[in-house]
Amino acid sequence: MTQQANSTSKTATAIAHPNIALSKYWGKQTFGHNLPAVPSLSLTLRGMQTKTSVTFDGALASDAFELNGQPAEGVVLQRVTQMLDRVRALGGSAERAHVVSSNDFPTASGLASSASAFAALATAATHALGLQLSRDVLSDLARRISVSAARSLFGGFVELRAGVPSDEALSANEVAGPDFWDVAIVVAVTREGAKDVGSSDGMKHTRDTSPYYKAWVDSAPATFTHLRAGLLERDLTKMGPAIEQSALSMHAGALAANPAILYFSGATVEVIHAVRKMRAGGLEGYLTIDAGPHVKVFTRGADAEKVAAYLASVPGVLRTITARPGAGATVVAG
Ligand code: DP6
Repeated sequence: MTQQANSTSKTATAIAHPNIALSKYWGKQTFGHNLPAVPSLSLTLRGMQTKTSVTFDGALASDAFELNGQPAEGVVLQRVTQMLDRVRALGGSAERAHVVSSNDFPTASGLASSASAFAALATAATHALGLQLSRDVLSDLARRISVSAARSLFGGFVELRAGVPSDEALSANEVAGPDFWDVAIVVAVTREGAKDVGSSDGMKHTRDTSPYYKAWVDSAPATFTHLRAGLLERDLTKMGPAIEQSALSMHAGALAANPAILYFSGATVEVIHAVRKMRAGGLEGYLTIDAGPHVKVFTRGADAEKVAAYLASVPGVLRTITARPGAGATVVAG
């Protein structure tokens, strides 16, 4: 973070990028506050962003949140207020805030909007109150509201270990910066609009009812360790099968919940088959899928355009977004 907050205006604006997990987080520990049950490894992306402005104002009776031009209420506003309450406690303030946020990519659809949202909010809100916090502290703050948001504080490849009972704080950690490796993630967008089951609810339901949840928690650390090693060797061929196994095991656990959670649409399955066919034809890329119907393909930077063209031709794919490694959350005004 490069700019000083202006403590007299109590306003600041930050941007943050979504991150896509190559080794997935799915499930919270039963102890502690919002601690992940498994380690995760993600890539922070440029090419998609959340921009959030926070203004603390003593004249406001309550927090107000405007998302993509619409006033937000209910659970969405509650989560924003939870973050603001933590920031107010840190800054010794009782003032309510007006928060204006916009995403330039589909919101709440499995494109990791909560990650960029809470990374940007933690960054903007603390700066608005004049707090100068390290990225580690901001990552921990973001993690308390949304685990994946802890990773968007950092750029490039980012890890977050599983929580342990003694954790009083838990922050993500940069494994390799955005310039470490020329790679891309190509998103095949298969539906516009919000998803059916949010990730927080979906992972709780999986933990509570899926007989495969324990197998997921037991197997995820080895997948993570393999992927991390492959990343440090810049070895796409080594990482690829583990990337797909992480995502598909996560979904297998959710599918085995009672009742089942199914994030895939028909087009999702079409894209899974297409990616296998693409590889068989010599174009290397590996898929991952979050809590939504879109398919994201991790590939070499030099192959990104070819992969995007391939995915765009799959029936049911509405459009593609090509994203490359990006930076962590940043204050842009304040
Ligand atoms: C499938 O971070 O959105 O994207 O901690 O409850 O806010 P909460 O969940 P969230 O879950 C993200 C799940 C995922 C995988 C990942 O990003 O690791």
